[in-house]
Amino acid sequence: MSEYNDQLNGKICMITGANSGIGKATAIQLAKMGIHIVMVCRNKERGENAQKEIKEESGNNNIDLLIADLASLNKVKEMVDEFKRNYDDLHVLINNAGVFNKKRTLTIDGYESTFGVDYLAHFLLTNLLLDIIKKSAPSRIINVSSNIHLYFKINFDDLMSEKKYASQKAYANAKFALVLFTHELARRLDGTGVTVNALHPGHARTKMTKSKNWISKLFLFLLSPLIVSPEKAARTSVYLASSPEVEGVTGNYFKKCKAIKSHEMTYDKSIQKKIWEISKKLVDI
Ligand SMILES: NC(=O)c1ccc[n+]([C@@H]2O[C@H](COP(=O)([O-])OP(=O)(O)OC[C@H]3O[C@@H](n4cnc5c(N)ncnc54)[C@H](OP(=O)(O)O)[C@@H]3O)[C@@H](O)[C@H]2O)c1
Repeated sequence: MSEYNDQLNGKICMITGANSGIGKATAIQLAKMGIHIVMVCRNKERGENAQKEIKEESGNNNIDLLIADLASLNKVKEMVDEFKRNYDDLHVLINNAGVFNKKRTLTIDGYESTFGVDYLAHFLLTNLLLDIIKKSAPSRIINVSSNIHLYFKINFDDLMSEKKYASQKAYANAKFALVLFTHELARRLDGTGVTVNALHPGHARTKMTKSKNWISKLFLFLLSPLIVSPEKAARTSVYLASSPEVEGVTGNYFKKCKAIKSHEMTYDKSIQKKIWEISKKLVDI
């Protein structure tokens, strides 16, 4: 699947959270095709170590690193400014970074961290990059969501989990918002040559799913027949970023490289608009 490809050689792809797990595996597979990767990572040392590994494993030297902590909206803005000073195009944006926090923590801007990092930072990042993404069309935006959004609906009454914190619910709020955002943005970008799709990567053994807690360990053990490697979990992101089969395909939710139904409520245009307006206010754009 992931081999050097004349059509993709030199295309520019930004991946958030590219130093670990599914993001790093995605970067390696796309780099092998000749795609120029721009990694976005929060920690310089972890970023540089992964950058070296991606170059070595892919044989592609066009692997750049930008540092931004997505828990700060200002850092996102500064990173976008730096990107625009140094690049003329962006053909693929993969909004991949994510956290799953056992305890409620806040971002620099005072938002619940899962919602802030997994969703709001990517809402802002995508909107700030839209001009360059449109200019680079045909181009693609890929939102790494999760099938958790099928089991827990978004709670508009407690988006920041202030009333009650439960890690799964906070995570579901963020991943549900990401799917709503995908549908709304796809409609807004109709006719521009920019596609937007969301995906569930599958359950993978990564830093995020490693746990010291025995209940989680037992849960993961029971789930183990379903757990795949980060390399396998990266396949849907790689497919959406590179396959000619999905040229022009937009506003879908994918699992195992197939479009499937997202939660019924995510197709409601009034709810899509609602999260868009709330997000705009929260990130102040
Ligand atoms: N693994 C699964 O079973 C699974 C299932 C469904 C969906 N997903 C989604 O897949 C995506 C990748 O997760 P993964 O499993 O590969 O986990 P992972 O190995 O923990 O990778 C998460 C990445 O996000 C980065 N990140 C976290 N907080 C950040 C911040 N504030 N600023 C910038 N980067 C930040 C991490 O950087 P550091 O290394 O610096 O922490 C890391 O590079 C996530 O969106 C996750 O929700 C995963």
